[in-house]
Amino acid sequence: MYLLGIETSCDETAAAVVTEDFKILANVVLSQDELHAPFGGVVPELASRQHLTSIDYVVQECLNRCHLKLDQIDAYGITQGPGLIGSLLVGLSFAKGLAYYFKKPLVSVDHLEAHIESAFLENRDLPFPVLALVVSGGHTSLFFMKKEFNYKLIGKTRDDAAGEALDKIAKFLDLGYPGGPVIDKLAEKGNPEAFPFALPRMTDKSLDFSFSGLKTAALKQIKEYRISKNHPSFFDFLASFEKAIIRALLANLARGVKTFKPCSLILCGGVAKNKKLRKDFLRFAQKQCLNSFVPSPEFCTDNAAMVAVLAVKKLKRQRKTSFPLGLNAYPRLYSFKGKTWK
Ligand code: KG4
Ligand code: ZN
Repeated sequence: MYLLGIETSCDETAAAVVTEDFKILANVVLSQDELHAPFGGVVPELASRQHLTSIDYVVQECLNRCHLKLDQIDAYGITQGPGLIGSLLVGLSFAKGLAYYFKKPLVSVDHLEAHIESAFLENRDLPFPVLALVVSGGHTSLFFMKKEFNYKLIGKTRDDAAGEALDKIAKFLDLGYPGGPVIDKLAEKGNPEAFPFALPRMTDKSLDFSFSGLKTAALKQIKEYRISKNHPSFFDFLASFEKAIIRALLANLARGVKTFKPCSLILCGGVAKNKKLRKDFLRFAQKQCLNSFVPSPEFCTDNAAMVAVLAVKKLKRQRKTSFPLGLNAYPRLYSFKGKTWK
């Protein structure tokens, strides 16, 4: 059985083919970074137009890489949301069209669920219960999973996502887009203790995140000390800001561990590519004597392998195969705070 997964939730057009035993035969990602770089962030209208021009080519390239033809595909997997509505609709309509024409099942997946799945792609045996920290450009969320497919959203950001805060500060300092990888690289040269940042705290003791305060504090310091690329403390500033973001993430994770007592920890999403975050996360898990896993960098940022593998899992659980042509995209996180996700 071959399943073709498609992902177009933000600014990557991606396709992947996987087998029923979760082997990834091809995984193609076409990034739109260059298109959005002059604007310092994703321009939604440009993103959806670019998906329209790229999707055909990306799917064809993916099939070429595994020497398959479209009529050999047995099922389709597609990201339904959350994400940019125009971008999501391009992938969803494309997948629906294929499923309808070839009369094959179509399985929709949630983008955050797919990010969590990216950890299981390479590590099938992570013991449950699991605490999953999803850190991307659009989301920063903490999920508790008692068992497979059982998600409880226990914390989410109340304002900016961690990746968004990194991207915005990088934009302000004219470092290019996306800013996360640039800060990751430049921060290595700096002293993370040089600039003080107070950690965000929720007065209601919830496990929610907040990064707008850190972002405002960073902007204030940039103005006060006139930080720019040529400033002698430029690298120190970036290292300190990066450290503040990481401390905020891990502080909530630590509180989540205390409350929910998981066996394993997962870190996933685009920001999970950050070298210092990966190291600190793994060190934290080791100290707590917990199993832990961070996906390989190629599976952290948006990709279709995570969509396809999750779709195969879901397809296997379905009693009836479905051709949900009425399926619609959703732009925002499910409103399921504190409740079981599905
Ligand atoms: O998961 P993702 O590809 O897209 C969304 O679902 O949002 O995440 C993109 C985010 C961007 O904010 C980008 O700056 C960040 O991931 N990112 C990084 C790194 N690579 C990508 N942040 C920190 N360090 C990195 N190496
Ligand atoms: Zn993502």
